[in-house]
Amino acid sequence: MTQDEMKQAVARAALDYIKAGLKPESIVGVGTGSTANFFIDELAGIKHLFEAAVASSEATAERLRGHGIPVYDLNAVAGLDTYVDGADEFDAGLNLVKGGGGALTREKIVAAAAKEFVCIVDESKQVPCLGAFPLPVEVIPMARSLVARELVRMGGQPELREGFVTDNGNLILDVYNLKIRDPKAFETELNNLVGVVTNGLFARRGADVVLMGTQAGVESLKP
Ligand code: A5P
Repeated sequence: MTQDEMKQAVARAALDYIKAGLKPESIVGVGTGSTANFFIDELAGIKHLFEAAVASSEATAERLRGHGIPVYDLNAVAGLDTYVDGADEFDAGLNLVKGGGGALTREKIVAAAAKEFVCIVDESKQVPCLGAFPLPVEVIPMARSLVARELVRMGGQPELREGFVTDNGNLILDVYNLKIRDPKAFETELNNLVGVVTNGLFARRGADVVLMGTQAGVESLKP
């Protein structure tokens, strides 16, 4: 099975996972990235079963609308039952690194609004310790150098994501060389740096369930 076939399989599994709980008034939170895109394409097949979606990026909103799925502003809804999104890395505690696509801030906001976060990945994303994937940190443009110096002091090696501006008009520093042994504490420490909008660690609000596509099929993992 190729990586794309595993992503496709896990997208189908996510659809089966959420389908039973959908009501005509349900609003589904939808993430960003190639795995989330497979999920969006699957979701289109059952769009008659729910009211609308909330998107974690402009790209996702566009893809949803392309399928005829209404997209609501998060401020217009009281909350979400479910958020479905991919990840760049996850560990045994279902702590995640996200933001490879640069949508981390909106992803974190939509995840925070959802009762259940269903994370969909292929098996390449499972790691014993977070940090092999460079950790994205969204920064206010004028604070770029200030935050980069702080990140070096904390043991990381930040690199500006060249030519990239987030949906919120900010910049991304990708931080290399990290071994994140205490994801919750590190997430908080990074958030406390002046000029940081958010960081790609999803530990204080990690996944509730990870559906992982493997060569042998889809595995469901809980913390
Ligand atoms: C987007 O900003 C990310 O958080 C994605 O969810 C993550 O990068 C996973 O993307 P893929 O599904 O494309 O690997």
